[in-house]
Amino acid sequence: MERRQALHALAGSAVVAALPFGRAHGADAAPFKIGFILPMTGQSASTGKQIEAAAKLWMAQNGSSVAGRKIEMIIKDDAGVADTTRRIAQEYVVNDKVDVLAGFGLTPLAFATAPIATQSKTPMVVTAAATSAITEQSPYIVRTSFTLPQVSVSIAEWAGKHGIKNVVTFVADYGPGIDAEKFFKSQFLLNGGKVTGEIRSPLRSPDFAPFLQKVADLKPDAVFVFLPSGQGAAFMKQFGERGLDKSGIKLIATGDVVDDDQLNDIGDVALGVVNSHHYSAAHPSAMNKKFVAAFEAASKFRPNFMAVAGYDGMHLIYNALATTKGAGGGDALLAAMKGQIFESPRGQILIDAQTRDIVQDVYIRKVERVAAMGNQLYNVEFDVQKAVKDPAKVK
Ligand code: PHB
Repeated sequence: MERRQALHALAGSAVVAALPFGRAHGADAAPFKIGFILPMTGQSASTGKQIEAAAKLWMAQNGSSVAGRKIEMIIKDDAGVADTTRRIAQEYVVNDKVDVLAGFGLTPLAFATAPIATQSKTPMVVTAAATSAITEQSPYIVRTSFTLPQVSVSIAEWAGKHGIKNVVTFVADYGPGIDAEKFFKSQFLLNGGKVTGEIRSPLRSPDFAPFLQKVADLKPDAVFVFLPSGQGAAFMKQFGERGLDKSGIKLIATGDVVDDDQLNDIGDVALGVVNSHHYSAAHPSAMNKKFVAAFEAASKFRPNFMAVAGYDGMHLIYNALATTKGAGGGDALLAAMKGQIFESPRGQILIDAQTRDIVQDVYIRKVERVAAMGNQLYNVEFDVQKAVKDPAKVK
């Protein structure tokens, strides 16, 4: 009998040890609420689908309590419409009394919510939107995704060093696109290149054909493209249909355009496209291999960069709540988020304590068909810039 009890006690402590977020606060403490606002429908629905799957995976792997607080995750769909995001954020703060706001699939949605985070002193974890200036809209914003300047500079430098002399830029006409255009250009000029055209296409329901015609007429060595996640497949299809892939004009891009969510659907027209980004499902670390296998087993689709930012957003929140020993509170959580460093499936990440923005490695990758990975298309990393801070915030 005694022996059995002792074994039970041992088994119990083993479980606690395996769950780093274990118990501390009273068992009757109020639940800790994380209110996600995501586009689950509409043009950016894949962003919502990816982040939801990743956040659920995080909880399945790490438990649904931290320091004695039960974690309650709520997910609501804003369909990518800023007025809806704002209304949901208000309801979350006033009625549900959430402890953290999270998500934000597009830049305007993050901008719409920032004043609510400030007024209510609620930490706002941005797991998608990537215009540099977002983190400056509220001292309660922390970002686990990336910024467009962060990834655009690397591909500009690569292009400048690989015989590309003239580039036409082609971006979605809103915050992240304008960031990409500007930071690509300044770095490319520094590397001796010339930008011979700057084309912007509307964010909503874009028809790329007239813009692609302009690219064809300008005949640059390469076209540099940024479009938000979800638009890459339509763009690449039209690029191929217009014969641009065989025109001698190289396509270079941020990884948003050849995103893991759509890459296999895009097909062979993407082969050989060199692009820069912070995450590839083919990132060869042990942690990423485990992450991708668990994600695909649970969700039946491949994680993309949005999923990783959602997973890391949950990691950041769990760590912060553990640091406050389950107490929470906007200012204490925020203080606990600043300066966090941990290994992500993308590599090591840091939340810069001054800017509350992410510092991370940026990879140069090429789209290849990988025999060892089921003969599917992947972004295969071949170069890296370590620990890149958002260049828009480097004074
Ligand atoms: C944004 O709206 O900030 C955004 C959305 C999707 C991306 C990148 C940026 O892939």
